[in-house]
Amino acid sequence: MKHFLNLIDLSGADLDGLLTEAARLKLAQARREPTASLKGRVVGLVFEKPSLRTRVSFESGVAQLGGTSLYLPGNEVGLGWRESLADFARTVSNYLDALVLRVFQHATLDGLAAHSSIPIINGLSDWSHPCQGLADLLTVRELFGTEKGKTVAFVGDGNNVARSLAVGCGRLGAKFVLACPKGYAFDDKFKADYAARVSADFPAEVNDPFAAVQHADVIYTDVWTSMGQEAEREERLRRFDGFQVNAKLLAAAPKHCKVLHCLPAHRGEEISDDVMDGPACAAFQQAGNRLHAQKAVMEWLLR
Ligand code: CP
Ligand code: NVA
Repeated sequence: MKHFLNLIDLSGADLDGLLTEAARLKLAQARREPTASLKGRVVGLVFEKPSLRTRVSFESGVAQLGGTSLYLPGNEVGLGWRESLADFARTVSNYLDALVLRVFQHATLDGLAAHSSIPIINGLSDWSHPCQGLADLLTVRELFGTEKGKTVAFVGDGNNVARSLAVGCGRLGAKFVLACPKGYAFDDKFKADYAARVSADFPAEVNDPFAAVQHADVIYTDVWTSMGQEAEREERLRRFDGFQVNAKLLAAAPKHCKVLHCLPAHRGEEISDDVMDGPACAAFQQAGNRLHAQKAVMEWLLR
């Protein structure tokens, strides 16, 4: 059974194919061409954490492809506590054609995937956010014509979003640089996975955001405190002081540099209002691309 849990499970050719199909679906949607590739299919959506983009873009995407979606609040379905993950997976496999989940623990996804006879799609875990990574790459491709040879400077935490994007860049020939305070870089497990499955050439990690953006085509940022890390918020606010993507940092990047953010943004923390609302920011184009990227993923899994 094919799942969509981490971008590292996909080859460069898989990713390239998904991006091509996402671009095609985007054009088809703009032209209001009828598409029925998910006709008769039912996609479940389980969320253990809040979401705007992921939930709405999946629900819209399923509808646009002629299928039906079912929203299943995490606190009602009781993943792993009302019944075992294996029993849950084996049950819903009878009702649904695919299941999208946003979970606290990535292990929940692995536990379900091991027992599921329908595709499991990661709609964000503490480990990765592959749907976001794919939409990010689609946006880079749209902005520059290609992602190959482009430099993405991620200014922020070495988190779920950063891991997925770093892998996507590595697979497709883009350069990824992480700028973060000491102690917030990529963890050893990610480094080992990357070395074993992507490349021996690990993304550069620096502690100076100005050095990181010097040759950047894209500056990327995300919240400093991810969902589930709320207890660390005060500490993180202190530690990430000086890592805000603002006009001064943008001025240190090449003139053509674009700014991306997975959203939601904490304006005044990781990004300033003037950059968010300025001409370099492509975060809303990027948010829109979640829809098209995920439609391509669902077709790829369910075709
Ligand atoms: N970027 C993203 O996943 O947004 P949501 O948390 O709103 O789904
Ligand atoms: N890193 C953030 C991304 C939100 C879309 C989080 O996990 O909360």
